[in-house]
Amino acid sequence: MSGEAVNLAELERLAAERLEPGPHGYYAGGAGDERTLRRNVEAYAEWELWPRVLVDVSELDTGVELLGARLELPVLVAPVAFQKLAHPEGEVAMARAAEAAGTVMCLSTIATCGPTEVGGSCGGRKWMQLYCFRDRAITRALLDEAVAAGFEAVLLTVDASYAGKRERDFRTGFEVPAEVTAPAVKQASGGRDLTVQEVFALVDPSLGWEDLAELAEASELPILVKGLVRADDAELAVEHGAAGVVVSNHGGRQLDNAPATIDALPEVADAVAGRIPVLVDGGIRRGTDVAVALALGADAVLAGRPCLWGLAADGQAGAERALAILREELRLALALLGCPSLAALDSSHVRRRRP
Ligand SMILES: Cc1cc2nc3c(=O)[nH]c(=O)nc-3n(C[C@H](O)[C@H](O)[C@H](O)COP(=O)(O)O)c2cc1C
Repeated sequence: MSGEAVNLAELERLAAERLEPGPHGYYAGGAGDERTLRRNVEAYAEWELWPRVLVDVSELDTGVELLGARLELPVLVAPVAFQKLAHPEGEVAMARAAEAAGTVMCLSTIATCGPTEVGGSCGGRKWMQLYCFRDRAITRALLDEAVAAGFEAVLLTVDASYAGKRERDFRTGFEVPAEVTAPAVKQASGGRDLTVQEVFALVDPSLGWEDLAELAEASELPILVKGLVRADDAELAVEHGAAGVVVSNHGGRQLDNAPATIDALPEVADAVAGRIPVLVDGGIRRGTDVAVALALGADAVLAGRPCLWGLAADGQAGAERALAILREELRLALALLGCPSLAALDSSHVRRRRP
């Protein structure tokens, strides 16, 4: 069924038909007037791709080396909370789709399948997304569980000290149904089920750069900082032991009027200057968007809603379809750009459109 979707917009329409208004609004929505949500997508149209011609593109490679291992696709599955709202198999189905695509599954702290369950049901590569809770013992327990389950890296999310004002949820009266629970959160709350607002109240809003340094020092796994947009913050991340950064505004769900991530990427990439990997997420809806991000200095990208729409439309097969669409579009973009591999893609291939 999802196999009929020609592009991600069609997959999104299929998902919208299947989801109730509450979960749909929770997934689709952003903060405030949703300016950042829209800009993340629209800003890609402002960057033109400038192809080279008469290059041998008979062989094409979409693979990339990241943290010492090869991915078949430079698109990771972004951490997205409460995936059983989209499909009963939730994060397990999503992780299997990521494995089939040869990429990384990032598991949310607010996942409805915990690291042990996901690790036990899928042999692919997995990273753990971490919200640092006020109660550090819970955070450490979650990290230990992720290490034991074979997760290879940690994404420390730093743009959500408080939940953004997501007005669609107020309008629909969205609440997470009682049967959909997030194991890590349940543990943190002493066995109680929490609303989305209550979950964020567990997050430590006093977290600072020294905490990152301590976490990085103590962690067996590399820690990437997810959710910055500024060059000075990227410099601080490098100085405090981050193994990578993700330029992100949480898919427009936190600070409205924050810049589109693709516009923030160049200055972050410049500041980092190749010392650690730079990733970006927010608004990737086409393979050509992936090409723009890589040409502007990203090592890889993450996709949130596109994978979620696939999962909602058709479970694992739908999430696989979302990643396959991006892979095929990226291959074609590389070919037509005159780039046999991602390494050939550079800043000469992208320019900001003249007004
Ligand atoms: C419904 C939803 C839930 C999310 N939950 C989390 C989360 O638990 N942790 C996190 O770091 N980011 C979370 N994000 C943000 C994503 O990881 C990612 O930054 C964002 O979705 C990228 O934008 P895109 O959806 O346009 O690809 C969530 C995003 C959505 C849409």
